[in-house]
Amino acid sequence: MTSDDLIQEAAEIIRKSKNLAVLTGAGVSKESGVPTFRDALDGLWVQYDPAQLATRQAFQENPKLVWDWYQYRRGMVGEATPNPGHYALVVLEKRFPDMVIITQNVDDLHEQAGNTHIIHLHGNLAANKCVANCQGTPTPIDITQLEWDEDNGPPSCPYCGEHVRPDVVWFGEMLPTDALEKAIVRSEQCDVMLVVGTSGLVTPAANMPRYAQQSGAKIIEVNPDYTMISQIADVKLDGPSGQVLPKLVEALEADA
Ligand code: APR
Repeated sequence: MTSDDLIQEAAEIIRKSKNLAVLTGAGVSKESGVPTFRDALDGLWVQYDPAQLATRQAFQENPKLVWDWYQYRRGMVGEATPNPGHYALVVLEKRFPDMVIITQNVDDLHEQAGNTHIIHLHGNLAANKCVANCQGTPTPIDITQLEWDEDNGPPSCPYCGEHVRPDVVWFGEMLPTDALEKAIVRSEQCDVMLVVGTSGLVTPAANMPRYAQQSGAKIIEVNPDYTMISQIADVKLDGPSGQVLPKLVEALEADA
């Protein structure tokens, strides 16, 4: 089949959908210039292993190092704007108003583009919380209200004095319960899941397409590479999401 035929086939599946879910990963933000974990380690950070920076243990051992790395990533993500892939998902939501996006991304590019039902499985890069969650889980902290020596690592929690940390999920940590529960329910309820720009390597997010398929949903994947999801996808659309998603939406709208 040509790639055009595959796009038509995917559009046909989506057209019949009554309950559409989308799972996104780092790939959907790539064309916005947001580096993945691995890409983020350039310049000063090249000597570090991301899997060792993004852990509670690393933060406990060297809070300034981990905090500075997140501040650096925040700087990069702060400059980014949505790409045509994000905007295509907004068009899709207009056609399927109950559509949900389950994302592993900690940026807010889906929100910036205009999608409204978004479940963040791995937290929010721009937000902060008390590392001890001293006022409940989570204990959000607005660091713009704090004064501290920014050259000297993270600020202290105004309630308990422990460090403030980014509100993201580190390796080895539980996902936010509410987000995970909602994601599982929506995965099991959907009849089509569009899986965009994820390697499918990191669970439990990577289990969502499996839950969907086990409940009878069709899986459509958009990714330039072969992934764990490719093995189970009903239709695999090869290519960057900034190019493929607009074509998919166009094909869908053509017969609207
Ligand atoms: N369009 C679509 N997909 C792309 C593009 C693109 N332009 N460029 C790269 N990709 C694909 C890659 O082929 C890869 O399969 O995006 C995927 C990115 O995979 P990962 O970097 O593993 O990202 P993700 O699946 O989101 O990782 C899950 O792991 O790094 C941790 O917590 C972090 O949320 C992240 C989690």
